[in-house]
Amino acid sequence: MIVRRPVVRGSDYAAAGKAANFVLSKTKLRSKIAVVLGSGLGSFADQLKDTTKIAYEKIPGFPRATAIGHAGKLIIGKVGKVPVVVMQGRVHLYEGHCARDVVFPMRVLRRMGIRSVILTNAAGGIGEGLRPGDLVLIQDHINLQGVNPLIGANDENWGPRFPDMTYAYSEKYRDIAKAAARKLGIELREGIYAALVGPSYETPAEIRYLKAIGADLVGMSTVAETIAARHAGMNVLGISCVTNMAAGLGGKALDHQEVLAVGQRVQNELGALLSAVIPEILAGDETAAANETARKHKPTASHGDAQ
Ligand code: HPA
Repeated sequence: MIVRRPVVRGSDYAAAGKAANFVLSKTKLRSKIAVVLGSGLGSFADQLKDTTKIAYEKIPGFPRATAIGHAGKLIIGKVGKVPVVVMQGRVHLYEGHCARDVVFPMRVLRRMGIRSVILTNAAGGIGEGLRPGDLVLIQDHINLQGVNPLIGANDENWGPRFPDMTYAYSEKYRDIAKAAARKLGIELREGIYAALVGPSYETPAEIRYLKAIGADLVGMSTVAETIAARHAGMNVLGISCVTNMAAGLGGKALDHQEVLAVGQRVQNELGALLSAVIPEILAGDETAAANETARKHKPTASHGDAQ
């Protein structure tokens, strides 16, 4: 008889705190928002001012990014006057990292005081009318990676055992992004992102299956990060860049160089969108926090006010 014992590893709470302190000791900037730049989408980081750059391998406990097109640098800087943390490149399950390691950076961000994350990625387009070069807001996701970063003992310091995923991608942030795109004249679509583990691209039959279950986009990242971010109480905006028609839809074989090249082409648009969205998200969050404080301190009848 095979006895399966649950794998219980120590919590990442202390390790993430140590990494966060290390990063914070390198900069005076304190940010509430972070951006993860996906495959070939790293150039937004070049627009930042007053930057401090830290290679992932210098940060205690951080997994190393090995994928082509992923620089593997944490950059703290300013967009206009707004401090922001940027991850130039991420790590993926297909590199051999376990799901918990894939989300360790999210947890470090949380312990640095980040409340909002913008996750970007390169994706194959499945949905009707999607074309290479399109930017698409992630409305929701389908996790087909076969793992979940929250597997194992739960640490309540992060969040509950069974976190809700009804609002995985903030509707408020999506509305902000749509309004910003309209102002900039950028066409921004919306769709469902399905994540597979990779690294092989999908077969045409798999793409037909994904279409049938309601996916508009396919990729190899983001969902584990979203799950961990939501678990830890952060709000998420997801933006995919369609770098290719998904397998079987474009009449040719898929090529990672092409994925990177299309990413390169759309980077300026994505950069403009991010620069516009970041201050709006922060302003919205501050207003919401102020309203919440006012609500909590509003005198009620039970405090002896007007009956
Ligand atoms: N499939 C999976 N991941 C991807 C794709 C794709 O077609 N394009 C970019 N990342």
